[in-house]
Amino acid sequence: MIIRIAEPEDAKKIKELYQQVARSSNTIIRLENEITDEYVEEFIKRSLEKGLILVAEHEEAPGKIIGEIHAYSPGIHAFRHIFSNLTIAVHPNFQGRKIGRTIFTIFQEEIALNKTDIGKVELIVRESNTKAIQFYQALGFQIEGRFEMRIRTAQNTYEADIPMSWQNPNFEFD
Ligand SMILES: CC(C)(COP(=O)(O)OP(=O)(O)OC[C@H]1O[C@@H](n2cnc3c(N)ncnc32)[C@H](O)[C@@H]1OP(=O)(O)O)[C@@H](O)C(=O)NCCC(=O)NCCS
Repeated sequence: MIIRIAEPEDAKKIKELYQQVARSSNTIIRLENEITDEYVEEFIKRSLEKGLILVAEHEEAPGKIIGEIHAYSPGIHAFRHIFSNLTIAVHPNFQGRKIGRTIFTIFQEEIALNKTDIGKVELIVRESNTKAIQFYQALGFQIEGRFEMRIRTAQNTYEADIPMSWQNPNFEFD
């Protein structure tokens, strides 16, 4: 497996990955038809400018991206020490094979080693995605609260959204 920083040219492959994940489960926040070129191009751009974005390629799926993780700073002074909007996706055929853990660990190591101005990484995960909540907890994230009735599901019911965060052990105040 190769894990590398994404490039703008990866947009089409990342879009395919997100659409595949959206099609197979109600885990990522957007419906398949909401995963547009604009959405993907925008988060790649923001992550390259003010965040971090990694992709995974695998010899069993030549020419495809089978995993991706990104987060970025909202860009204003008050939030300059935060990476927010974290999203991770692993292709359904490759889930449960430690690819998510591997890409996420490299993401955290890169922040701890080379982004010491970032003190905190935030995400929000829907309550029903217990697999992802356990996954994030195993990687050192803590639950910070609970946003009631924040998510309207594809079936038009409602569920809570769970904010979680991880703190950079090497954060340096500047
Ligand atoms: C959540 C996700 C990123 C995990 O990646 P993965 O490659 O499947 O997970 P890994 O094989 O690396 O497993 C790592 C940890 O995840 C958790 N986990 C994985 N599969 C699990 C399952 N079926 N049930 C419960 N926990 C599970 C465990 O804590 C596991 O710890 P372990 O390594 O000690 O066993 C991946 O399944 C995915 O993309 N899911 C769909 C999209 C999504 O939910 N994204 C997050 C919300 S935005």
